[in-house]
Amino acid sequence: MVSEGYLPLFETKEGKGRVAYRVFAASIFVGICFIWSYRARFVPEEEGRWGWLGLFAAEIWFGFYWILTQAPRCNPIYRRTFKHNLSKRHEGHLPGVDIFVCTADPEMEPPAMVISTVLSVMAYDYPPEKLSVYLSDDAGSELTYYALMEASQFAKHWIPFCKKFNIQPRAPAAYFALHTDHQSNEEVFVQKLYKDMESRIKAAVELGRVPEEIRSSSEGFSQWETYTSRRDHDTILQILIDGRDTKATDVEGSRLPTLVYLARAKSPQYFHNFKAGAMNALLRVSSQISNGKIVLNVDCDMYSNNSDAIRDALCFFMDEEKGHEIAYVQFPQKFDNVLKNEIYSSTLRVHSEVEFSGFDGFEGPIYIGTGCFHRRDVLCGKKYSKGYRNNWNSDYRNFKDSVNELEEKSKHLASCSYEENTQWGKEMGLRYGCPVEDVITGLSIQCQGWKSVYCNPERGAFLGVAPTTLLQTLVQHKRWSEGDLQILLSRYSPAWHARGKISLGLRMGYCIYCLWAVNSLATIYYSIIPSLYLLRGVPLFPQVSSPWLVPFTYVILAKYAASFVEFLSAGGTILGWWNDQRIWLYKRTSSYLFAFIDTVLKILGFSDSAFVITAKVTDEEVSKRYEKEMMEFGASSPMFTVIATISLVNLLCFLGTVKKTVESGSGMVMAFHTMVLQVLLCGILVLINWPLYQGLFFRTDKGRMPTSLTIKSFIYALATCISFSFLL
Ligand SMILES: *[C@@H]1O[C@H](CO)[C@@H](O)[C@H](O)[C@H]1NC(C)=O
Repeated sequence: MVSEGYLPLFETKEGKGRVAYRVFAASIFVGICFIWSYRARFVPEEEGRWGWLGLFAAEIWFGFYWILTQAPRCNPIYRRTFKHNLSKRHEGHLPGVDIFVCTADPEMEPPAMVISTVLSVMAYDYPPEKLSVYLSDDAGSELTYYALMEASQFAKHWIPFCKKFNIQPRAPAAYFALHTDHQSNEEVFVQKLYKDMESRIKAAVELGRVPEEIRSSSEGFSQWETYTSRRDHDTILQILIDGRDTKATDVEGSRLPTLVYLARAKSPQYFHNFKAGAMNALLRVSSQISNGKIVLNVDCDMYSNNSDAIRDALCFFMDEEKGHEIAYVQFPQKFDNVLKNEIYSSTLRVHSEVEFSGFDGFEGPIYIGTGCFHRRDVLCGKKYSKGYRNNWNSDYRNFKDSVNELEEKSKHLASCSYEENTQWGKEMGLRYGCPVEDVITGLSIQCQGWKSVYCNPERGAFLGVAPTTLLQTLVQHKRWSEGDLQILLSRYSPAWHARGKISLGLRMGYCIYCLWAVNSLATIYYSIIPSLYLLRGVPLFPQVSSPWLVPFTYVILAKYAASFVEFLSAGGTILGWWNDQRIWLYKRTSSYLFAFIDTVLKILGFSDSAFVITAKVTDEEVSKRYEKEMMEFGASSPMFTVIATISLVNLLCFLGTVKKTVESGSGMVMAFHTMVLQVLLCGILVLINWPLYQGLFFRTDKGRMPTSLTIKSFIYALATCISFSFLL
């Protein structure tokens, strides 16, 4: 089948130093075994017995979890594509590509940002007649529709401009923010068009509605006559640019990609299934209109930063040797608003640079819901079979119907009742019922026998907006960890049901995320109890002269050294790593704890899930503090109470210990001799919480902790320390 002299479309390289890393990991594991046996052999009889046993349990958990995290680290691979081979062999018959952009709220996700993303994907270097862009608007907002209408006009100038000067990135907002000088006349002209359009859109948004003269000039708006609210309206569907039409051209006379606005029908009687529901409606509607074989979905804040990304993805799908097994190609999520030292650690650097390459080594990177190319028929439920072959030539596209007929035919596919008694959301499309619909969908596709690929080229292909406050970060992680825990308990559970369907390494990899929430318990225990025992003067770790100190020291140093090197080699900074450790602690002690509690409550039948959108806009003051790398609190949240209380318990324990040792004179040496690790642990917890103490006590700006929260946490912490020292 594959001819000789065949030039592959991509190559795969194993990560360097895999063997050395495995030896290193094995040595840490030996250390962990020593720690376990130390705990088992020296359980104290009286003082500290329960504290000790709890630590033992936590260390068993950490050891087990650490083993899971080693699976991807032992097996990384890296991919490179050969796009010139793709053009050489396939240029004439490239498949149709449908791009889905999802937005859900015009206030959290401003229409001007949404269309910048839309324009960036319309400007891909790809035959326009094979490219279709769909915007799904789950708010059914006139404002978003209006913005898209404006974008469809501006595209006629923007796309030829991009292609003529081969500019990057092709999101106008990002491009004009980067290029402010040395402008050609054409650039000045296009920039003016863009700025004018942007201010018209912003004016409409400020007004809260579309001005009357614009409404009456376009019949598309008539679809809002029956609109009652964002939760109750008919399908709104408008083909703004019909790419089949040879007369739909830009100002230079070149064809334009298809552009479609869709707001699926909503009704209080039907549950809408959040983004998964929107994606499934898009899959059906697009199958009528353009039916591209490849589907790309991006979040509305994730513009394309690389106009070649489609071709990168096709190099995998169209590879004659391996392409037929690949269900999806995932790109990493990158961000254009992160600071050098990442105070909220929102680049997810280690996940995207280290762990995902390891998943790729097991042929199964997870689907993360944005920046991912899917094979349409696989996403729609096709199972893998051995003899499956690509057939790129059989593109079906409806050329008979007029635009109006096409719109009418497609509308009912997005109606509320369409999915009743169908497999949509179960075996077809994105799976319903899980807050991380993307991850569970990817997993179920892999369980059907398909493989996936991770494509992480040097230049980021998709850039989004990272959270810029601590609360946004914690809330986002609560949703993720909760969803991932639900996957563990679902019928696709990587721990149980995926056995025999995907490899052991990949199952372990999934469990890293599925067990995030569970991790909270051991972490909270470890960050409170040893400090409290320190205050009480009860040692829980080997003393300085004991040989058992060696495995503890080795495991701690080796583990942190590895994490440090990993972080720096993934492009981070030293301070960024330190910040990462802090966020790691906060996520584990708050987001994951609440996710764990909510999941337990849900199992017991007490609460229901809700999808929280992370805001993509922040007010100016907040942005300023963000740019100064100041941590943003400024709100009352139970999550903050937890992290503040834990940090204050440690501060009190530390100060109490210092006071005690100073008073007892030579006691200082004693405490250090018997409890060196506890002193260090408590001291490091105090150090890492420094920005939090500032927020609690010293700052005066609006981003500090609310005073009521400071007082509350202080009382909780004091009560904990007092009752532990004197009563228990
Ligand atoms: C985005 O693309 C530009 C080139 O247009 C490149 O310089 C930049 O590094 C890319 N951003 C990321 C995060 O890769």
